[in-house]
Amino acid sequence: MDIDSLKTQIDSEIQGVDSPEKLEEFRVKFLGRKGILAQLTSSIPSLPAEERSAFGQQVNALKNRTLSLVAEKQKSLASQPARLTAGIVDISMPGIAQDLGRLHPLTQVTEEICTIFQGMGFSVVEGPEIETEYNNFTGLNIPSEHPSRDVFDTFYLKYKDRLLLRSHTSPVQIRVMKSRKPPLAVIVPGRVYRPDAVDASHSFMFHQIEGFMVDEEIKFSDLKGALEAFVKAVFGQEIKMRFRPHFFPFTEPSAEVDISCIICKGRGCSVCARKGWLEILGSGMIHPNVFKHVGYDPKKYTGFAFGMGIERIAMLKYGINDIRLFFENDLRFLKQF
Ligand code: DAH
Repeated sequence: MDIDSLKTQIDSEIQGVDSPEKLEEFRVKFLGRKGILAQLTSSIPSLPAEERSAFGQQVNALKNRTLSLVAEKQKSLASQPARLTAGIVDISMPGIAQDLGRLHPLTQVTEEICTIFQGMGFSVVEGPEIETEYNNFTGLNIPSEHPSRDVFDTFYLKYKDRLLLRSHTSPVQIRVMKSRKPPLAVIVPGRVYRPDAVDASHSFMFHQIEGFMVDEEIKFSDLKGALEAFVKAVFGQEIKMRFRPHFFPFTEPSAEVDISCIICKGRGCSVCARKGWLEILGSGMIHPNVFKHVGYDPKKYTGFAFGMGIERIAMLKYGINDIRLFFENDLRFLKQF
């Protein structure tokens, strides 16, 4: 065989080697015991005597050259990750950008509110969404004929008569007070349920934050101070707040809290129904009957409580006009927060 054309063949075949498997095939073909170069070597004795030495030298030189080509190739293959050498990944292609996730706006507002109250010494407690009728109503001094106990206003669970989906976060007051002694300052974020027809401002499921503080000599002014700090932290320093007398069975006295309309700054617009004020929460001084239910001495302890809807706060804060947007999982909406 012609040494020169063999050399050309070897040079071109080593180029196509792109995996350890192909390199081994190449090695066996040219350098193996029965390989092409071994065959040439064994043909030397049959050559005319005067050609043997020169041919032998040429074959040897080509063998050494081929050996070093194999060694070189081995090195370059080892320095590349296997997947690249096998051609599975095209590293010249642009990458696939990953979208960054973010917290749901309701989660963001819940965390913001909890952080504000934690700064005032409140601790965060959660309670179950399935509650007893006692914790949801009776313990909170809500009489058995109260309309909120009606099946049109509360989801009762069929199987166990006394269980229901809590209609507010207030039952966690009962749970906490039964298991702890004053002083306590607690904030309770959570999901609540009511059989309301869904529309722009109602949902059968929504979120509330309950807050309450109990100790000797807690006064209405403590409630006012805590809520004012909260309102200003969420809506800005210039916001005004007012307490409007109201009734809740579990507080006495009770009040609803309004803030000056954040859209028209109190002048009157469609969002505040020309009143200049927006209702944001219910509050009051914890009723002595509630203390009796949990075994606190109402002569020794006083306390305040409040509860608010998180959706309402978020809608006012961000100017959202339909509560359903929170629950539709539409990324065009969610990405704005
Ligand atoms: N639980 C009431 C509701 O869902 C809100 C509320 C009002 C909570 C007054 C309170 C409170 O703790 O003192 O409508």
